[in-house]
Amino acid sequence: MGRAFVYVILGGGVGAGYAALEFTKRGVSHGELCIITEEPVAPYERPALSKGFLLPEAPARLPSFHTCVGANEERLTPKWYKEHGIELVLGTRVKSADVKRKTLLTATGETISYKILIIATGARALKLEEFGLNGSDARNVCYLRDLADATRIVDVMQSSIGGNAVVIGGGYIGMECAASLVINKINVTMVFPEEHCMARLFTPKIASYYEDYYKDKGVKFIKGTVLSSIDMNSDGKVTGVNLRDESHLPADMVVVGIGIRPNTALFEGQLTLEKGGIKVNGRMQTSNNSVYAIGDVAAFPVKLFGEIRRLEHVDSARKSARHAVAAIMEPEKTGEFDYLPFFYSRIFTLSWQFYGDNAGEVVHFGDFSGNTFGAYWVSKGHLVGSFLEGGTKEQYEAISKATRLKPAVEDLAELENQGLGFALAA
Ligand code: FDA
Ligand code: NAD
Repeated sequence: MGRAFVYVILGGGVGAGYAALEFTKRGVSHGELCIITEEPVAPYERPALSKGFLLPEAPARLPSFHTCVGANEERLTPKWYKEHGIELVLGTRVKSADVKRKTLLTATGETISYKILIIATGARALKLEEFGLNGSDARNVCYLRDLADATRIVDVMQSSIGGNAVVIGGGYIGMECAASLVINKINVTMVFPEEHCMARLFTPKIASYYEDYYKDKGVKFIKGTVLSSIDMNSDGKVTGVNLRDESHLPADMVVVGIGIRPNTALFEGQLTLEKGGIKVNGRMQTSNNSVYAIGDVAAFPVKLFGEIRRLEHVDSARKSARHAVAAIMEPEKTGEFDYLPFFYSRIFTLSWQFYGDNAGEVVHFGDFSGNTFGAYWVSKGHLVGSFLEGGTKEQYEAISKATRLKPAVEDLAELENQGLGFALAA
C-alpha cells in the first residue's frame, strides 16, 4: 500500500504550518503536498500551550490558534488544507525513513514516497528517567510539548487548586508554567540546578528581576539542587518530591521542563548531524539534495555569527520553513537564509524580547526597579545581542534593527549611558 507526493512535510507543528502557507503562496498544485504528523490535529501555534491554553478564564482552544495566526497570517484550519488540496495525514507516526529510496514508512504500514522531503519533526521533552529518576508515569507528573500534554496539565491543575505544585527546571517551560499555575491559584515551588532562572539566556541581574517578581506572586525558589526521588501513593499519584539537598516538598502536581532533544532518530546514519540536529546549508538543504530540514530539528548557518546553530524558538521555525519552501520552489531567486535569532516570552503582565547572541560582555540599561530595562551584549567590539523588557513596538524594532547592523561599540560605559537611545539612534 502506498501513496506518492511531490512534496512531503514530515511533522505537523509550527514549521509545517508555515511551510504549507508558503507552498500555496508560491503555487503548489492540488495533490502535490502532504503533511504527515503524529498529532491528531492540524498544525497549531505551540507557544499558546504554555500561555493562553492554561488560563483559568477564557482559555485559548483550537481552532483559534492554528497556524499561521501567530504571525498575523491566515489561520489554517483543516478546511483550509482541504480547499488547497493538501493531504493532511493526522495521528500517524512515521516509523522509518529511507532517503535513498525517498520513502517513509508509517506506523499504520503505509509507504509514502516523495520527490522532496521537508523534515519538521521538532523535538521531544527530556524525561526524568533520562536523568536516572522515575515518576513520569504518575498521573500528576506533567510535561509540556504538545496538545495532549497541555490538556493533561489543565486536568491536573483543576484538581490541584489551592494545593502545591513543584516545577522542575528553571528554563522556558518552568517559568511560563509557574506563572500559569499561580494564575490558577496553585502554590508553586521552582527547583533547578543553576544559580538563577533562565540560565541559558539571562544575566544574574536580569534573572533577579524576574525572580523577585515571581516571589511577589508567592513563588518559592530552590536553586542549586535537583530532584533525587519522587514519593508516590498506591494510586500511582505523586504526593511529594525529595531533593538532593535533602529537603522534601509536598506536591499535588509536578511539572517537568528540563530541556528537549531534537527528533533526529529516523535520519541518523542517513543524513549529516550537527549540534544535536540535522545539518543544513543556507537553503535549509540537508546532506541529501532532496531532503530539507526546518525548525527545532535543523542546525543551520547563522550568517550573522558565521556559525552553525540549532535554535528552539518559534520565529526560527516560521522563517526557516518559509525559506526552505522558497529555496525548493524558486531556487534561482532564493539566496542564503540570513536570520537574526529572536526569542521572546510573556509571563504575567511581563513581556520581553531578545535578538542576536548572548556572547561577550554585558551592559545593562534602564530602570530595573521599574517596568522597562534591558541589556546589550558586546563581542569583539560589536553589538551582538539585545534584550528588552517592557518595550514598545518601536523600541523592540529598534533593538532588532540595531542588533542586525552589529554596530561598533568602543566604550561600554558610554553604551550604558545611552541605554535604549543607542539602539534608537542606530
Ligand atoms: P514542532 O515541535 O512544532 O512540531 C514537530 C511535529 O512533528 C509535531 O507535530 C510532532 O508530533 C511531529 N513528529 C515528530 N516526529 C514524528 C514522526 N516520527 N512521525 C510523525 N510526526 C512526527 N518559542 C518561542 O519563540 N516563543 C514562545 O513563547 C514559545 N513557547 C513555547 C511553548 C511551549 C509549551 C513549547 C513546547 C514550545 C514553545 N516555543 C516557543 C518553542 C516553539 O514552539 C518551537 O520552537 C516550535 O514549535 C518548533 O517548530 P517545529 O515545527 O520545528 O517543531
Ligand atoms: P530549557 O532548555 O529552556 O530549560 C531547561 C531547564 O532544565 C534548565 O534551565 C535547567 O534549569 C533545568 N534542568 C536541567 N537539568 C535538570 C535536572 N537534572 N533537574 C532539574 N532541572 C534541570 O528547556 P525547557 O524549559 O524544558 O523548554 C523546552 C523547549 O521549549 C525549549 O526548546 C524552549 O526553547 C521551548 N520553549 C520556549 C519558550 C519561549 O521561547 N518563550 C516557551 C516555552 C518553551
